[in-house]
Amino acid sequence: MNGKLIFPGLICVSVGIGGSQPISQIEFSQQDNIQNTIMNCGTENQSTSRCDLSTSDILGPYYIQDAPIRNVLAGPNEQGQRLIISGDVLTNGCADSIPGTMIEVWQADDAGCYSVNQDCSNGNPDFDPSNLRGKFFTDNSGSYNFETVLPGFYEGRPRHIHIRISLPSGIIMNSQIYFEGDPFCESDPWCGQDLNRVIILSENDDGTLLGSLDWVYNTQDPGLLTGDANWDGEINVLDIVTIINYIVSEELNPTDFSFYLADVNQDYSIDVLDIVILVSIIIG
Ligand SMILES: [Fe+2]
Repeated sequence: MNGKLIFPGLICVSVGIGGSQPISQIEFSQQDNIQNTIMNCGTENQSTSRCDLSTSDILGPYYIQDAPIRNVLAGPNEQGQRLIISGDVLTNGCADSIPGTMIEVWQADDAGCYSVNQDCSNGNPDFDPSNLRGKFFTDNSGSYNFETVLPGFYEGRPRHIHIRISLPSGIIMNSQIYFEGDPFCESDPWCGQDLNRVIILSENDDGTLLGSLDWVYNTQDPGLLTGDANWDGEINVLDIVTIINYIVSEELNPTDFSFYLADVNQDYSIDVLDIVILVSIIIG
């Protein structure tokens, strides 16, 4: 997933950070790492390095905790063009990835309405109480992907997807994903501050849009090891006991990293299959 993100034909853009920009709502800022000036002056195939450190954005008013664990956020009947976004969470100059990173995503529907916070009477045909919201983890390779629909416009803002990234080490970053060519980006205070987050979409034969975005850090975080259910740094019989306790007691809190650690086969379910695989790992 590494490499260069090309912005062919993009007009000259100069983005100053700070000044009058309303950044006070940013919960976690890597502002020092934001490119002070991003220049792409109309020359074809100039590129922005995909290994630039990722940047934060406003949290916005529509975040809620405890979104369901899933990476398909839109039901099959949801209005709007299907969209799949994938990428990696990387560190150490993009040489290493961070497995087990928790990613939360929320967005407006095709009509620009947020479920839970608003009455989205024109969308959500499947009556999903957490429509277009979800929580998932990077896999053993530090990769993620999620499926949704292209969000609509609201209140003059460009299309955007909210994302909250929680590293196992405790670092939390709120940010947003934008889309190249959006007519409202230029007038938006936040869109375009970091061109790495204004992604290019391609379209599949079936009409599904595809986008890619890596999240890049400069931190020491080896990530999590699936199977280490009790999070003691080792995989042994105690982890089997922990998973059995989860299943029997049904007390597993699926909203934190313990879910990832116990979901050994990474199928978004903690059950006997995870124990079977864990046993095979332990006995070699
Ligand atoms: Fe929003």
